[in-house]
Amino acid sequence: MKKRVAILISGRGSNMMALVGAGRALDYPAEIVAIISSRADAAGLAYARDQGLPATALDHRTFASREAFDEAVHAALVEARVDLVALAGFMRIQSAGFVRRWEGRQLNIHPSLLPLFKGLHPHKQALDAGVKISGCTVHFVTEEADSGPIVAQAAVPVHDADTPETLAPRILRAEHILYPQALALVASGRAVVQDGRVKTRAPPHSDDVLFSPQP
Ligand code: GRF
Repeated sequence: MKKRVAILISGRGSNMMALVGAGRALDYPAEIVAIISSRADAAGLAYARDQGLPATALDHRTFASREAFDEAVHAALVEARVDLVALAGFMRIQSAGFVRRWEGRQLNIHPSLLPLFKGLHPHKQALDAGVKISGCTVHFVTEEADSGPIVAQAAVPVHDADTPETLAPRILRAEHILYPQALALVASGRAVVQDGRVKTRAPPHSDDVLFSPQP
């Protein structure tokens, strides 16, 4: 049985589109049953509605408190009989109660190789640090931001001439490949959390060293 997945967005929604695309494949272990946007003007919401996807806006500004907003999100997830939640550019900090209710069932994607460069402006943080490789991480959501068990990561080279504006789209292309793969691992039960770390039963991967730039 496919896992029922909700995607939470606040803006552009390109990762949502990648997940929606993956979810259309018959053999993908998850189906997208709800898209919830915290902003009524999110570009991703317009796209989702155009596509006839089950999309809802829950404008956070119309709720009295963070808890009240989270309660409405929770109710929508329960109503849609959601098994897993995928945050995709969702720009709200969630209350501790909400995070606990969905712990082990909620994923996020962050555009850095965590635990490096948590929080805001990760591309600028990577450039400021002078790293030669950066990338993206899909992780389970825990109370501390960008700190939950890591499901999967993808790496891209950082070039000398990069700015946040040139690095971000390179990482974003990796995000669009990584997130559907990571969600499939979790939805199929091949990635499970044990002792705060994700153990993955996946096809054997290469032990080759990755170089940046390619020698
Ligand atoms: C992505 O870079 C994601 O890693 C970060 O926010 C951005 C969202 O982009 N959390 P999009 O809305 O999925 O296009």
